[in-house]
Amino acid sequence: MKLPYIEPYKIKMVESIQQSTPEQRKKWIKEASYNLFKLNSNQVVIDLITDSGTGAMSDKQWAEIMLGDESYAGSRSFLKLEKTVKNITGFKYFIPTHQGRAAENVLFSGLVKKGDFIPGNAHFDTTKGHIEHRKATAIDCTIKEAFDMETDHPFKGNIDLQKLEQTLKETEKGKIPFVLITITCNTVGGQPVSLENIRSVRELCNEYQVGLFIDGARFAENAYFIKIREKEFANHTIKEIVKEMFSLADGMTMSAKKDGIVNMGGFIALNDSNIYEICSNFAIMYEGFVTYGGMSGRDMGALSQGLIEGTTFDYLQSRIQQVYYLGQRLDEFNVPVLKPFGGHAIYIDATKFVPDIPKEEYRAQALAIELYIVAGIRGVEIGTLLADRDPVTRKNRFPKLEMVRLAIPRRTYTLSQMEYVAVALKNIYETRKDAKSGYTIDWEAPIMRHFSVKLTKK
Ligand code: F0G
Repeated sequence: MKLPYIEPYKIKMVESIQQSTPEQRKKWIKEASYNLFKLNSNQVVIDLITDSGTGAMSDKQWAEIMLGDESYAGSRSFLKLEKTVKNITGFKYFIPTHQGRAAENVLFSGLVKKGDFIPGNAHFDTTKGHIEHRKATAIDCTIKEAFDMETDHPFKGNIDLQKLEQTLKETEKGKIPFVLITITCNTVGGQPVSLENIRSVRELCNEYQVGLFIDGARFAENAYFIKIREKEFANHTIKEIVKEMFSLADGMTMSAKKDGIVNMGGFIALNDSNIYEICSNFAIMYEGFVTYGGMSGRDMGALSQGLIEGTTFDYLQSRIQQVYYLGQRLDEFNVPVLKPFGGHAIYIDATKFVPDIPKEEYRAQALAIELYIVAGIRGVEIGTLLADRDPVTRKNRFPKLEMVRLAIPRRTYTLSQMEYVAVALKNIYETRKDAKSGYTIDWEAPIMRHFSVKLTKK
């Protein structure tokens, strides 16, 4: 028998989980206005709301915490991180920021103007928020296969080249500062983008003389998928693939809380000295001096080490195998999940799961709430609540997919905890016919409403 994959680490420190009952959770979620973001963590048993900043650092990362140099200017920790980022990404310039959306804020302050268009593959919500806040428009050019939960396409995060070309051709010259590729594409299910696709996008960008930036929050997971799914790269190391991906772009934004395996941090890396100068000024205004950008020295050291560990094959294999395990178990229980399974999360198809709850009553949110009440598992709605209202018409935008995302923190939960999640969903699936109604909105913020929305049970 073939030996199974094992986690390439053992546990050195544990954090206890507060247990609770369905009755307690029913009361807590009502008090939280049926918004999972408003729960306290000790009201949650297994927290899959995000894989962002929730991973476990290694002993070597914790050692970096002790070595942190907290000098305001030119600290050793900054120099260490700068060297690692340049080594891994190949970019010439590096600006630390306190997290990914801060990197977006700084970069877009320099490059995005009112009336601009930013084509890309299903931009993440903060990315879209930063674009729309500047009265610019994000244009989704993801391939159509991404919106079919069943199609087994190896690179569902890919850009539809025809749609992109049409956008580049039809948009007034000078109105597209850059194309943005998100790897892996979180919004459509943590799906990877192939190197072949990034190359073709680069060619189009060259032809139409626009820039190409990468949102690299999960770049290492993307590289893993390229290695195992794109023949040309089967014998390349993860680090070689990463270099190749970034060599095609003019720069990147990074939420280091994902593939950097740190609790807080981000950065911008790029090649153009002019853009670097412009962004440096915004970084100083919004984030902090250019050699810390809102990060502590110790956190920069831990991130440097996290990037090195996060781009090794063994780590990525065990990480993605764990996500796969959960997906596989749910599939065995016939729970409808997005396929192929994503790199960082499993996405449940709420439309198939609870078809009798009207989409106007936020069916994915209703399912996420049920999962919380039954088993204390906190996922997140990726559906109508997240899609927000159209900024012009103020009408609800109904996305093609209504999903509940179960994001798996890195190196944090065990396989038996994944089994607990799978069984909880199996049990809910068996009672799904009883679910007929969802929720209505009591109050919502004008932008990014899902974080603070207040709901009432219908
Ligand atoms: N880009 C992508 C693809 C992301 O997934 C995120 C965050 C960001 C940018 C913003 O980074 O949180 O460091 O400011 N995603 C988290 C999530 C929050 O749960 O998927 P940030």
